[in-house]
Amino acid sequence: MARRHGRRPHESTVSASFTIYLCSLAGCPTMEKMLHSAPIQATLPDCFIFPADKRPPATAAAVSLPIIDLSRSRDEVRRAILDAGKEIGFFQVVNHGVSKQAMQDMEDVCREFFRLPAAEKAGLYSEDTHKATRIYSSTMFETGGERYWRDCLRLACSFPAGDSAMDWPEKPRRLREVVERFTVQTRGMGMEILRLLCEGLGLRHDYLEGDISGGDVVLHVNHYPPCPDPSTTLGLPPHCDRNLLTLLLPSMVPGLEVAYKGDWIKVQPAPDAFVVNFGCQLEVVTNGLLKSIEHRVVTNLGVARTTVATFIMPTTDCLIGPAGEFLSEENPPCYRTLTFGEFKRIYSVVKLGSSLNLTTNLKNVQKEI
Ligand code: OGA
Ligand code: NI
Repeated sequence: MARRHGRRPHESTVSASFTIYLCSLAGCPTMEKMLHSAPIQATLPDCFIFPADKRPPATAAAVSLPIIDLSRSRDEVRRAILDAGKEIGFFQVVNHGVSKQAMQDMEDVCREFFRLPAAEKAGLYSEDTHKATRIYSSTMFETGGERYWRDCLRLACSFPAGDSAMDWPEKPRRLREVVERFTVQTRGMGMEILRLLCEGLGLRHDYLEGDISGGDVVLHVNHYPPCPDPSTTLGLPPHCDRNLLTLLLPSMVPGLEVAYKGDWIKVQPAPDAFVVNFGCQLEVVTNGLLKSIEHRVVTNLGVARTTVATFIMPTTDCLIGPAGEFLSEENPPCYRTLTFGEFKRIYSVVKLGSSLNLTTNLKNVQKEI
C-alpha cells in the first residue's frame, strides 16, 4: 500500500496502517526499508538518529554557487569553470544544452516512479551493490550501521548505446524513453565541460575522453521523503563522489550542502541549472589541482525532494593516476595509480559526521604512496 506524503496522520493511524503495509509486502520483506512507500512515520526510528555531536549543525546562510553560462565565449567559460572549480569545487551551469523539456520530463517521470504502488517496484529492490538497476534505501557507502533518510533508484546507461536499458523499470510507461533522452543530453554537456577543463588545464582537449569517461553513465534518482525530525539525521552522509564528474539536477527544494572553508554552505539552486562537481578521479588526474569536495544532504519536514545525479564514470579497469603534465621534481605524485574498480573498493566507507578535511579527502588512497 503506497501512501502519498503530505498529511501527517495521528500516531494510532500510523501503527495500524504500518501493519497493513507490512502484510501487503509479504514475499518482499526488504521493501520495508524503502521510506517513500511506508506510511508516514510520526517519529524517527532509532537507526536514523545520530548522537548529539554528529547531528547536522545549524548551517551558514544559503549560498548561490557561481552560475556559469555555457553559451558565453569559450575563453570566458573555460576561465569561469576553472576559477569556480578551484575556489569551491562546485558550480552551477545554465544554457547547458540539456533542453527544458528533457529536464522537466525527467523530474516528472522520477516523481511518478516513486508514487507507483510499492508492489510495482518490489522486484527492483536489491541490496547487491553490483546490480546495475535497483532500488534501495539509505546509502551505497558502508556506514557504521546508521541509516540515511533517502531512497534511490539506480540506473546505468552504457555508451555508445547498448542494451543497458533493457532492465530499466517498465513503469511509468515513458520512463525508458525519457531517461534515455535525458542521459544522452546530460552526458553531452558533461563531455563538453571535460573538454573545457582540459583546455583550461593545458591538457590535450581529448585527454579526458576514452576509458576515463567511457564507463557506464550511472544515474542516481535520489528521493528524500519528508522527514519527521531533520535536526537529528541526514539524507546523505558527508561524501565525495568517486567518479570523474557529477551533474546534478538539484530540484528547487533545497537540501544539498557543500563543505567550504571549514563549514557547510547550503546550495540555493538556480532555475533550470545543473549543479556540477568534480569526482575523486579528477582530483587524482590533476594531482590535487582540482579537488573533489565533500558534500551531504539535509532533509526537511514538509516536502519530498527528488534529485537526479548523473555520474560520468571511468571503465572499471581504467588505470588512473596523476597526469605527467602535473608532475615535476617539486610536484611529486600525491595519489597512487589505481584502477577505478580498485579505487571504489578502497574508498567505500563513510564516517558519520563530517571530516571537512580541506587538504584532501582521499586519505586512504594516499596512505601508501
Ligand atoms: C549524490 C549526491 C546530492 C543531492 O547523489 O551523490 O550528492 O542533493 N546528491 O541529492
Ligand atoms: Ni554526491
